[in-house]
Amino acid sequence: MLRGKKIIVGVTGSIAAYKAAVLVRSLVKEGAEVRVVMTPLGRQFITPLTMATLSKHPILVDFFNPENGEWNSHVALGEWADAFLIAPATANTLAKMATGVADNLLLTTYLSARCPVFVAPAMDLDMFAHVTTQQNLARLRTNGVRIIEPEEGELASGLSGKGRMAEPETIVEYLRVFFAKKKSLSGRKFLVTAGATIEAIDPVRFISNHSSGKMGYAVAAELVARGAEVVLLSGRTSLPVPGGVRLVETLSADAMCRAALAEWPAVDGAVMCAAVADYTPVECSPIKLKKDEGELCIPLKRTVDIAAELGRSKEGRILVGFALETDHEQEHAEQKLLRKNLDFIVLNSLRDAGACFGGDTNKITLIDRKGQTEFPLESKQRVAERIVDRIVELLQ
Ligand code: CTP
Repeated sequence: MLRGKKIIVGVTGSIAAYKAAVLVRSLVKEGAEVRVVMTPLGRQFITPLTMATLSKHPILVDFFNPENGEWNSHVALGEWADAFLIAPATANTLAKMATGVADNLLLTTYLSARCPVFVAPAMDLDMFAHVTTQQNLARLRTNGVRIIEPEEGELASGLSGKGRMAEPETIVEYLRVFFAKKKSLSGRKFLVTAGATIEAIDPVRFISNHSSGKMGYAVAAELVARGAEVVLLSGRTSLPVPGGVRLVETLSADAMCRAALAEWPAVDGAVMCAAVADYTPVECSPIKLKKDEGELCIPLKRTVDIAAELGRSKEGRILVGFALETDHEQEHAEQKLLRKNLDFIVLNSLRDAGACFGGDTNKITLIDRKGQTEFPLESKQRVAERIVDRIVELLQ
């Protein structure tokens, strides 16, 4: 799976840099073409000679060769690669990547790279658990960087916990799986709904909900990563648009419904992640409502159930829905599966810690007509992979 793949391996200043030698050797053995970029501190942990010998190419550290002034083009390197793997990735490099600092060749290459980027963090357990590191990782995840989670175990400090860089064979396997899946949906087209709809009361106020859109955006990015064409109908979010998707802003339930019905005939399937308002004001006041004494009643009317509407005209298309529940989770999800004519439904419960609004993790159960599969608490990126894996299975 890695034969002929062009991979940049970035090495930063961590004691785990010694594992990068084994990693590069394994990638080359798998048939990949490897170029190594090191940070100045990374160079202190493992010699350029070792890395150059294993990768069969000179390693790159500086912006230019001080002896002859030859420029090391990070742009050309970023364009050349099929994947950029930073292993080990220190807390410092992750922080710089998350904020766009570009003070070494590895970082400018990251900013220029058009290919998928993978990081294998390596640091002490407290550094890894620190809220700042976790925020940086969350930001990178949102920007499409794939995190190869560190493992639990003994650390260089003598302490034990999560922070040890994933073993080289785990990283190689991660890349193998990534490239195997990459083209599994090429030629397919999907519709994804995401985010919260907003239902206007007047020009200033609206009814909405807490959905951040993260799950839907992760699903859209994952479908693109597998080669699908994706149209993303998005309610209100503050997320960057994943590369390669066609975004249609559909702020209200009505706008989302009209766009979904228009796109549906041309797609192979839809993943309905949006938190669509079930009710909308009967009328939107054209002017700002003024307060008065006493209570205010705003008459609401039902919106169209978009998923159910698509479910009425499936004709071989795949339809996936979500159920976010607070009670009788299983029962409610099964009812929605049937009522909306879904192929499967992704259940998450607000009772599960870590599955709250706006977070970067989710805990799901996939339910179809044959049964259910429960998954542990995982990153939304991993959850998106699980959902898309199931779609690929259904298409086979
Ligand atoms: N959904 C939709 N259009 C709506 C309401 C919901 O497409 N007007 C989709 C959601 O995107 C989700 C699924 O239906 O995939 C379930 O949404 P949810 O709000 O949990 O269910 P409802 O059918 O609205 O049921 P209830 O509010 O009674 O739980």
